[in-house]
Amino acid sequence: MRTRDSFMKMKKEKEPIVMLTAYDYPSARLAEQAGVEMILVGDSLGMVVLGYESTIPVTVEDMIHHTKAVKRGAGQTFIVTDMPFMSYHTSREDALRAGAKIMRESGAHALKLEGAGETLSVIKALTEGGIPVVSHLGLTPQTVGVLGGYKVQGKDAQSALKLIEDAKCAEASGAIAVVLECVPYQLSKRITEELEIPVIGIGAGSYTDGQVLVYHDVISYGVERLPKFVKAYGNANEYIEKSLREYVSDVKAKTFPSEEHSFTMKEEALFSLYG
Ligand code: KIV
Ligand code: NA
Repeated sequence: MRTRDSFMKMKKEKEPIVMLTAYDYPSARLAEQAGVEMILVGDSLGMVVLGYESTIPVTVEDMIHHTKAVKRGAGQTFIVTDMPFMSYHTSREDALRAGAKIMRESGAHALKLEGAGETLSVIKALTEGGIPVVSHLGLTPQTVGVLGGYKVQGKDAQSALKLIEDAKCAEASGAIAVVLECVPYQLSKRITEELEIPVIGIGAGSYTDGQVLVYHDVISYGVERLPKFVKAYGNANEYIEKSLREYVSDVKAKTFPSEEHSFTMKEEALFSLYG
């Protein structure tokens, strides 16, 4: 089982860290078998598995429910769970209580929190309480309304310098890693050089210490449109749709089930059915 220290070592030795989201037992199992080193139970589950428009409706209970399933599928993998929308903003106490609840009930190894500012003191408090925290900076989907949409962050000098400062502050507050989303590669390279802790990128170019993508995007499963930064390695939509269409047409044509998929009675008992 990898730990905070092994991820630090990977950064030092320039061995890329592979992170992927997973939301349930089968996805977690397959991710672990494929060699994924860090699983993120992202609140993206709101969109990709629950069908919401954004991550806003996702609750602490949702995160616990899905993390438990992931844990059952990937018992040997480091699991990071997102703290959902507003579960760490109402007060320090609320944040600690929600964080403790997720850790206790789900079996996650670390929590991920979006943003800097006031959240830095929450990162510090959770860390002091014994909870490893991953900081999520750049495009932070929980505040997409305030950011004015899903767009690249840190394109101009001022916002770039602010992002470097936020990342340093997250590290100083105790974060064990930073996830950088939708940031120009030159900026994420600079941030990766500046920090001791690993920087995991999504839409942040190739100079980060690791990469993270959404499971359903990687295999094109259930999602229709992929963002520019995603590479799809398979087409589960096509495969599943084809399989399901064949099932439907077999049932309609009565070609399924055949004898091969049916059970039979003992020969001598057959007469009992019709006397
Ligand atoms: O929820 C999620 O999947 C994430 C990743 C996009 C980093 O936070
Ligand atoms: Na997330």
